[in-house]
Amino acid sequence: MKSKEWIQRQNYDFYVKKAKSLGYVSRSAFKLIEIDEKFNLILKSNTIAEFGSSPGGWSQIICSRNHRVKIYCFDLLPMQFQNKKILFHKKNFLEYDFNSCKNYFDLVLSDVAPNTTGHKSTDHLRIMSLVNNIIDISKLILKKNGSLVFKIWRGSKDIELINNLKKNFKTVKEFKPKSSRSESSEIYFIAKGYFRTENTLL
Ligand SMILES: C[S@@+](CC[C@H](N)C(=O)[O-])C[C@H]1O[C@@H](n2cnc3c(N)ncnc32)[C@H](O)[C@@H]1O
Repeated sequence: MKSKEWIQRQNYDFYVKKAKSLGYVSRSAFKLIEIDEKFNLILKSNTIAEFGSSPGGWSQIICSRNHRVKIYCFDLLPMQFQNKKILFHKKNFLEYDFNSCKNYFDLVLSDVAPNTTGHKSTDHLRIMSLVNNIIDISKLILKKNGSLVFKIWRGSKDIELINNLKKNFKTVKEFKPKSSRSESSEIYFIAKGYFRTENTLL
Protein backbone atom coordinates (compact mmCIF):
# COMPACT_ATOMS: atom_id res chain seq x y z
CA MET A 1 0.00 0.00 0.00
CA LYS A 2 1.31 3.47 -0.92
CA SER A 3 2.07 5.64 2.11
CA LYS A 4 -0.52 8.25 0.98
CA GLU A 5 -3.30 5.63 0.92
CA TRP A 6 -2.17 4.35 4.30
CA ILE A 7 -2.32 7.82 5.84
CA GLN A 8 -5.79 8.38 4.35
CA ARG A 9 -7.03 5.08 5.74
CA GLN A 10 -5.63 5.89 9.18
CA ASN A 11 -7.28 9.30 9.14
CA TYR A 12 -10.64 7.75 8.45
CA ASP A 13 -10.19 4.88 10.79
CA PHE A 14 -12.77 5.09 13.53
CA TYR A 15 -10.47 3.55 16.14
CA VAL A 16 -7.60 5.92 15.36
CA LYS A 17 -9.91 8.86 15.99
CA LYS A 18 -11.31 7.27 19.12
CA ALA A 19 -7.80 6.54 20.44
CA LYS A 20 -6.84 10.17 19.90
CA SER A 21 -9.93 11.46 21.68
CA LEU A 22 -9.35 9.16 24.67
CA GLY A 23 -5.62 9.94 24.87
CA TYR A 24 -4.48 6.40 23.97
CA VAL A 25 -1.07 6.28 22.36
CA SER A 26 -2.13 3.53 19.93
CA ARG A 27 -5.30 2.05 18.44
CA SER A 28 -4.06 -1.34 19.65
CA ALA A 29 -5.40 -0.36 23.07
CA PHE A 30 -8.91 -1.29 21.88
CA LYS A 31 -7.80 -4.82 21.01
CA LEU A 32 -6.63 -5.43 24.57
CA ILE A 33 -9.85 -3.92 25.94
CA GLU A 34 -11.86 -6.42 23.88
CA ILE A 35 -9.58 -9.33 24.85
CA ASP A 36 -9.86 -8.44 28.52
CA GLU A 37 -13.62 -7.99 28.37
CA LYS A 38 -13.98 -11.48 26.98
CA PHE A 39 -11.25 -13.36 28.88
CA ASN A 40 -10.93 -11.34 32.10
CA LEU A 41 -7.17 -11.48 32.57
CA ILE A 42 -5.80 -8.12 33.70
CA LEU A 43 -7.34 -7.65 37.12
CA LYS A 44 -6.17 -11.03 38.38
CA SER A 45 -2.61 -10.63 37.03
CA ASN A 46 -0.24 -8.67 39.27
CA THR A 47 2.89 -9.53 37.31
CA ILE A 48 2.71 -9.10 33.55
CA ALA A 49 5.38 -9.46 30.86
CA GLU A 50 4.54 -7.50 27.72
CA PHE A 51 6.43 -8.18 24.49
CA GLY A 52 6.13 -5.60 21.72
CA SER A 53 4.86 -2.95 24.13
CA SER A 54 5.59 0.32 22.31
CA PRO A 55 4.23 2.92 22.00
CA GLY A 56 2.28 1.74 25.06
CA GLY A 57 -1.46 1.49 24.33
CA TRP A 58 -1.74 -1.92 26.00
CA SER A 59 0.24 -0.72 29.03
CA GLN A 60 -2.17 2.22 29.39
CA ILE A 61 -5.11 -0.17 29.58
CA ILE A 62 -3.35 -2.47 32.04
CA CYS A 63 -2.38 0.42 34.34
CA SER A 64 -5.93 1.76 34.33
CA ARG A 65 -7.46 -1.65 35.14
CA ASN A 66 -5.06 -2.98 37.77
CA HIS A 67 -3.56 -0.66 40.39
CA ARG A 68 -1.33 -3.31 41.99
CA VAL A 69 0.26 -4.49 38.74
CA LYS A 70 3.96 -4.58 37.81
CA ILE A 71 4.56 -4.72 34.04
CA TYR A 72 7.87 -5.73 32.46
CA CYS A 73 7.80 -4.29 28.95
CA PHE A 74 10.10 -5.14 26.03
CA ASP A 75 10.36 -3.33 22.73
CA LEU A 76 12.96 -2.22 20.21
CA LEU A 77 11.30 1.20 20.10
CA PRO A 78 10.73 3.71 22.92
CA MET A 79 7.52 3.84 24.93
CA GLN A 80 5.37 6.96 24.67
CA PHE A 81 3.40 5.99 27.74
CA GLN A 82 5.26 5.82 31.03
CA ASN A 83 4.10 4.90 34.50
CA LYS A 84 5.73 3.82 37.73
CA LYS A 85 4.13 0.39 37.38
CA ILE A 86 6.19 -0.20 34.20
CA LEU A 87 9.74 -1.48 33.98
CA PHE A 88 10.67 -0.89 30.35
CA HIS A 89 13.49 -2.72 28.56
CA LYS A 90 14.37 -1.09 25.24
CA LYS A 91 15.70 -4.30 23.84
CA ASN A 92 15.25 -7.12 21.39
CA PHE A 93 13.57 -9.63 23.71
CA LEU A 94 15.48 -12.44 21.95
CA GLU A 95 18.66 -11.11 23.55
CA TYR A 96 17.34 -10.95 27.09
CA ASP A 97 18.22 -13.58 29.67
CA PHE A 98 14.95 -14.61 31.37
CA ASN A 99 16.51 -17.07 33.79
CA SER A 100 16.13 -14.64 36.68
CA CYS A 101 12.33 -14.46 36.10
CA LYS A 102 11.45 -18.15 36.36
CA ASN A 103 7.85 -18.79 37.54
CA TYR A 104 7.35 -15.07 38.12
CA PHE A 105 4.56 -13.89 35.79
CA ASP A 106 0.80 -14.34 36.02
CA LEU A 107 0.33 -13.22 32.43
CA VAL A 108 2.47 -12.95 29.29
CA LEU A 109 1.19 -10.68 26.52
CA SER A 110 2.65 -10.35 23.06
CA ASP A 111 1.63 -7.87 20.41
CA VAL A 112 5.05 -8.27 18.78
CA ALA A 113 5.03 -7.76 15.03
CA PRO A 114 8.03 -7.85 12.69
CA ASN A 115 8.31 -5.36 9.83
CA THR A 116 6.12 -6.61 7.00
CA THR A 117 7.38 -7.53 3.53
CA GLY A 118 3.90 -7.61 1.93
CA HIS A 119 4.50 -11.27 1.04
CA LYS A 120 1.88 -13.11 3.12
CA SER A 121 3.62 -16.42 3.73
CA THR A 122 6.96 -14.74 4.50
CA ASP A 123 5.28 -12.41 7.00
CA HIS A 124 3.46 -15.38 8.55
CA LEU A 125 6.71 -17.32 9.00
CA ARG A 126 8.49 -14.29 10.47
CA ILE A 127 5.84 -13.63 13.10
CA MET A 128 5.63 -17.36 13.87
CA SER A 129 9.34 -17.47 14.56
CA LEU A 130 9.01 -14.61 17.09
CA VAL A 131 5.91 -16.13 18.67
CA ASN A 132 7.54 -19.56 19.02
CA ASN A 133 10.33 -17.86 20.98
CA ILE A 134 7.74 -16.12 23.16
CA ILE A 135 6.04 -19.46 23.85
CA ASP A 136 9.39 -20.97 24.91
CA ILE A 137 10.11 -17.98 27.17
CA SER A 138 6.58 -18.21 28.62
CA LYS A 139 7.17 -21.82 29.63
CA LEU A 140 10.05 -20.57 31.74
CA ILE A 141 8.59 -17.38 33.23
CA LEU A 142 4.88 -18.19 33.72
CA LYS A 143 3.57 -19.29 37.08
CA LYS A 144 1.48 -22.45 37.23
CA ASN A 145 -2.03 -21.61 35.91
CA GLY A 146 -0.72 -18.45 34.24
CA SER A 147 -2.00 -17.19 30.88
CA LEU A 148 -0.48 -16.27 27.54
CA VAL A 149 -1.94 -13.96 24.88
CA PHE A 150 -0.25 -13.43 21.54
CA LYS A 151 -0.96 -12.37 18.00
CA ILE A 152 -0.09 -14.03 14.71
CA TRP A 153 -0.86 -13.45 11.08
CA ARG A 154 -2.64 -16.56 9.88
CA GLY A 155 -0.91 -19.08 7.66
CA SER A 156 0.29 -22.62 7.17
CA LYS A 157 1.82 -23.14 10.63
CA ASP A 158 -1.29 -22.29 12.74
CA ILE A 159 -2.44 -25.84 13.49
CA GLU A 160 1.01 -27.00 14.54
CA LEU A 161 1.26 -24.05 16.93
CA ILE A 162 -2.16 -24.68 18.53
CA ASN A 163 -1.41 -28.38 18.98
CA ASN A 164 1.86 -27.50 20.70
CA LEU A 165 0.18 -25.00 23.03
CA LYS A 166 -2.41 -27.58 24.06
CA LYS A 167 0.40 -29.67 25.57
CA ASN A 168 0.98 -26.99 28.24
CA PHE A 169 -2.27 -24.99 28.59
CA LYS A 170 -5.69 -26.15 29.77
CA THR A 171 -7.54 -24.03 27.20
CA VAL A 172 -6.47 -22.40 23.95
CA LYS A 173 -8.90 -20.06 22.19
CA GLU A 174 -8.62 -17.77 19.20
CA PHE A 175 -10.12 -14.31 19.08
CA LYS A 176 -10.47 -11.64 16.41
CA PRO A 177 -11.26 -8.28 18.06
CA LYS A 178 -13.72 -6.01 16.22
CA SER A 179 -11.06 -3.30 16.38
CA SER A 180 -8.70 -5.50 14.33
CA ARG A 181 -9.07 -4.60 10.67
CA SER A 182 -11.27 -7.18 8.94
CA GLU A 183 -8.95 -7.33 5.92
CA SER A 184 -5.98 -8.19 8.14
CA SER A 185 -5.05 -11.85 8.77
CA GLU A 186 -4.23 -10.87 12.35
CA ILE A 187 -5.67 -13.13 15.03
CA TYR A 188 -5.04 -13.42 18.77
CA PHE A 189 -4.63 -16.61 20.78
CA ILE A 190 -5.55 -16.81 24.44
CA ALA A 191 -4.00 -19.76 26.29
CA LYS A 192 -5.07 -20.18 29.92
CA GLY A 193 -4.06 -22.52 32.74
CA TYR A 194 -0.35 -23.12 32.15
CA PHE A 195 1.06 -26.41 33.41
CA ARG A 196 4.43 -28.07 32.99
CA THR A 197 4.81 -31.67 31.90
CA GLU A 198 7.85 -33.91 32.18
CA ASN A 199 8.51 -33.13 28.52
CA THR A 200 8.36 -29.34 28.86
CA LEU A 201 11.78 -28.21 27.70
CA LEU A 202 13.14 -25.34 29.78
C1 LIG B 1 1.89 -3.59 16.93
S1 LIG B 1 3.26 -2.91 17.79
C2 LIG B 1 2.77 -3.04 19.47
C3 LIG B 1 1.73 -2.04 19.91
C4 LIG B 1 1.49 -2.08 21.41
N1 LIG B 1 0.78 -3.28 21.80
C5 LIG B 1 0.68 -0.89 21.88
O1 LIG B 1 -0.42 -1.10 22.38
O2 LIG B 1 1.15 0.24 21.79
C6 LIG B 1 4.47 -4.18 17.61
C7 LIG B 1 5.77 -3.89 18.31
O3 LIG B 1 6.61 -5.07 18.28
C8 LIG B 1 7.95 -4.60 18.41
N2 LIG B 1 8.92 -5.66 18.11
C9 LIG B 1 9.07 -6.36 16.96
N3 LIG B 1 10.09 -7.24 17.08
C10 LIG B 1 10.60 -7.10 18.34
C11 LIG B 1 11.65 -7.74 19.08
N4 LIG B 1 12.40 -8.72 18.52
N5 LIG B 1 11.90 -7.34 20.35
C12 LIG B 1 11.13 -6.37 20.92
N6 LIG B 1 10.12 -5.73 20.28
C13 LIG B 1 9.85 -6.10 19.00
C14 LIG B 1 7.98 -3.43 17.42
O4 LIG B 1 9.06 -2.56 17.70
C15 LIG B 1 6.61 -2.77 17.66
O5 LIG B 1 6.69 -1.67 18.53
